[in-house]
Order: sequence, then structure tokens, then C-alpha cells
Amino acid sequence: MYLGIWFLKGNAMKHTALLVSLLLGMAQAQGLKDLAQKHDLLIGGAIDLRYLLDDPDYTDILEKDFNVLVAENAMKMDATEPQQNEFNFALGDLLATYASKHNMKLRGHTLLWHQQVPKWITSGTWNKDELEAIMKNHIQTVAAHYQGKVFAWDVVNEAISDSGGMRDTLWQKTLGDDYIARAFRYAREADPEAKLFYNDYSSEGMNQKSNDVYALVKKLKEQGVPIDGVGMQMHLSVLNPPSMEEVAANMKRLADLGLEVHITEFDVRSAGYPGTPAERHAAVGKLYGDVVKVCVQASNCTAFMTWGVADNHTWLPGDSPLMYDGFYNPKPAYFAVQEALKGQ
Ligand code: XIL
Repeated sequence: MYLGIWFLKGNAMKHTALLVSLLLGMAQAQGLKDLAQKHDLLIGGAIDLRYLLDDPDYTDILEKDFNVLVAENAMKMDATEPQQNEFNFALGDLLATYASKHNMKLRGHTLLWHQQVPKWITSGTWNKDELEAIMKNHIQTVAAHYQGKVFAWDVVNEAISDSGGMRDTLWQKTLGDDYIARAFRYAREADPEAKLFYNDYSSEGMNQKSNDVYALVKKLKEQGVPIDGVGMQMHLSVLNPPSMEEVAANMKRLADLGLEVHITEFDVRSAGYPGTPAERHAAVGKLYGDVVKVCVQASNCTAFMTWGVADNHTWLPGDSPLMYDGFYNPKPAYFAVQEALKGQ
């Protein structure tokens, strides 16, 4: 009898242990995208094609954690139209093929920006009609090429100035402020299905710039311009992050205009943080978790994307702004995002 109980107990313990290890295994196998799916949230990052092509550790991360990708550089104007009306879609197509093979969505970045503009444009002189034709041809050729492959485009990138008002760019100077409305209309004509976004930085909390972005997109909506959302780049610093209440309020006022929000280029600078490396990574992680919580709670925040994947490749050299370290180990930021996605 005594022995029998022992036997039962032993078996029950074994079963429990098996169950626990199975559940643990499942939890480990579950990537961020599986957790994000429960919130209808897309999660992903900006891709450097060099790594996509020959770094299996890199692609392992993408395939486990991400369900949306964006090209870090390969779909910008200097890459896609290196000579006038001669288009090069080779790298963007590779990314599109990879994304579709792995059931991931592809964001398009970006149809119109004042940086990474090809030399043939910056070295030429163009009157208004000529530049308008260049803008229209570029937007429509690229958007039409990726129709059915790109689900959302950053149509116009960074058109608001840091000191208030419209940014003085080659587009704005020659075409006037309403080039933005026309850029969106051209994009919609070329691809009626893709969601069209205005994308900018330092406009996530409540401040002069986010008020300007808000005023711009409100006006576009009132004019019947086809715009579906606002991209908040969110290149943050752990030293002076925006208030989460303000980010939530900003998302809410955009929701009230009927606009989605994508967090498009999230990363967190932490150089100069006063503390040990462990404290620094924890502080970065906390900010990651806080922002994902705000996004999950906002009715209109539908994507969270980091600008890069791991710290071995970031546009912020010498810093460690991403969820994975340079050896592809998950950092506190990764676990904070995981917890934020599990939490609610
Ligand atoms: C950056 C890339 O990460 C760099 O590799 C490139 O040299 C310059 O552009 N805002 C944007 C992105 O919208 O396109 C920028 O990407 C980072 C800031």
C-alpha cells in the first residue's frame, strides 16, 4: 500500500514534470509574433539585405519573432531610381519574395523623402512641372511595382521641420506645401489597396512637432486625401523619453481622425546612461515594454517595428538600441516586449 502510493506519487510527479517541460518548451518556441497576434499587432523590423542573404542566425530571429519587415535602405529613391526613369527593384524584390515565403507582411519605406535622393535629381535644375512629373512617375512606378506585395507605404517621410512648420526640402521648395496631398493621391491611384502613411520622428509625445503632424494629417483627411495612418518612427533615447501618457493621448487623437498608427523605426539610444551596463540595458528594456504596452492598449496602434534587428548592425554605431545583442542573444528589451505582449 505504502509502496503503491509512492508509485502513484512518483508517476504523478513524472507526469507533472513532463507537462511543465512541455509547457516551457512551448513558451520558448513561441516567438514575439505569436504573442503579438493575440493583439492583432504586427511586429517586425528593418532589414539589411546583406544579412538576409547570408546570415542564418539573423533569419532565424526573423522567422521566429517577426511577421512584418521593411527594407532599411533598399526601397528608398536612390536605390529604386538610380537614373531617371531607370528603376532597380532587385533588392526590394528579394525582400518581398522572402517575406511572402515566410508569411510576413512587407512595409514600404519610402516613396518620397528629402534624403537618399538620387544624384540625378539633386544635381539637376527642375521647374515645377518637371519636378512634379518626376515625383509622380517615381511614386506611381514604385507603388505599382509592389502592388499586392507591400501592404502599407510610408508615402511621405519627415516633411515637418524640427522647429515648426513644413520642412524646407527640394520637394517643398519647388512644388509648394501641397505636394504632400498630391503624393498621397498619386500613390492611391497606383495602388488602391495599400495603406498610406505619413511617417516622422520626434513627434510621438505631445509637442510642437506632433501638433504640426496632427494638423497636417487632419487637413489631409478634411480634404479627402487618401491617408490611412501615421508612422511614429520613435528613435528614442533612454535619457529623455517621451511621457507614455502623452504618447497614448497622441495615438488617441489620431484614432479620432480615423487614422492608424504604426511604430515604424523603434530603437533606444543609451550611450551616456549613468549606471552599470546591466542597469542601462534594463532601462532600455523598460522603455521598450512601456511603449509596447501603450501600443497594445491603443485601439489604432497596429504595428511595432524596430529599426534593425540586433546590435551588430544599427544605424547608431557604438550604441545598443535593439532587442538582440551583437551575438543574437535576446536582451532585457526582448523580454520586456515579451512580457508586455503576454501581460494584457
Ligand atoms: C537610415 C538607415 O538606417 C541608414 O543605413 C542610412 O544610411 C540612412 O538612413 N529615419 C528614416 C530612415 O526614415 O530611413 C533612416 O534610415 C533613419 C531615420
